[in-house]
Amino acid sequence: MKGVILAGGLGTRLSPLTKITNKHLLPIYDKPMIYYPIETLIKAGITDIMVVTGGNHAGDFLRLMGNGKEFGLKHINYTYQEGEGGIADALSLAEYFADGESICVILGDNIIERNIIKAVKDFEHQGRGAKILLKEVPDPERFGVAEIADGRLANIVEKPAAPKSNLAVIGIYLYDARVFDIVKTLKPSERGELEITDVNNAYVREGTMTWEMLKGWWTDAGTFESLLRANVLVSQTGANNT
Ligand code: G1P
Repeated sequence: MKGVILAGGLGTRLSPLTKITNKHLLPIYDKPMIYYPIETLIKAGITDIMVVTGGNHAGDFLRLMGNGKEFGLKHINYTYQEGEGGIADALSLAEYFADGESICVILGDNIIERNIIKAVKDFEHQGRGAKILLKEVPDPERFGVAEIADGRLANIVEKPAAPKSNLAVIGIYLYDARVFDIVKTLKPSERGELEITDVNNAYVREGTMTWEMLKGWWTDAGTFESLLRANVLVSQTGANNT
């Protein structure tokens, strides 16, 4: 399985912090944000990694991480997203890299306490379709929200005004190679982006989407509140613990 880290976007919710750098290069406690998703993948046994970035400061990723020696990697792949096409648009840039293999996609601002090796192994056994990870949150309206009926995942709604559950879809997704064909069928949402939730719902409708509850804490870091929270959580327990 290959790993894809989505680290583009303009990070406008964090302006002015993101005026002169990319959101994913901001500090989370003692490391730049992008280090955490890289370690998440490596600790799950995924070492063939592509970083999709964009915006005005993309060159800084190369200066920071080079070929990944600091992480024990021989090589890191990079690609560049032009414009603001959304998460699924960024993902489409990894098609050539994936080269027919399954992928683990992680949003560059998602940080977790524990490792995801079990979910990755489970998905390898599953073989076909997709898998998402869910976490109970106090503010589901900020996220993609899973609607579970009789233990079955029925639907995912992106940032619902009236969430039907408190189960957020976290930004770590496992997909088979058909994900790139699914992205090609998507139409932009009201915010003008190709939504990862639409990708996930395509698998839900096909009946090939599975889900697991994430153990340990999870946070994004794309707002001032969640950026602070990420720093505090990492300072208290560390991230990507086994
Ligand atoms: C994105 C996804 C959302 C998901 C979240 C996790 O939201 O669209 O479904 O729950 O990441 O961090 P965004 O960060 O773009 O608002």
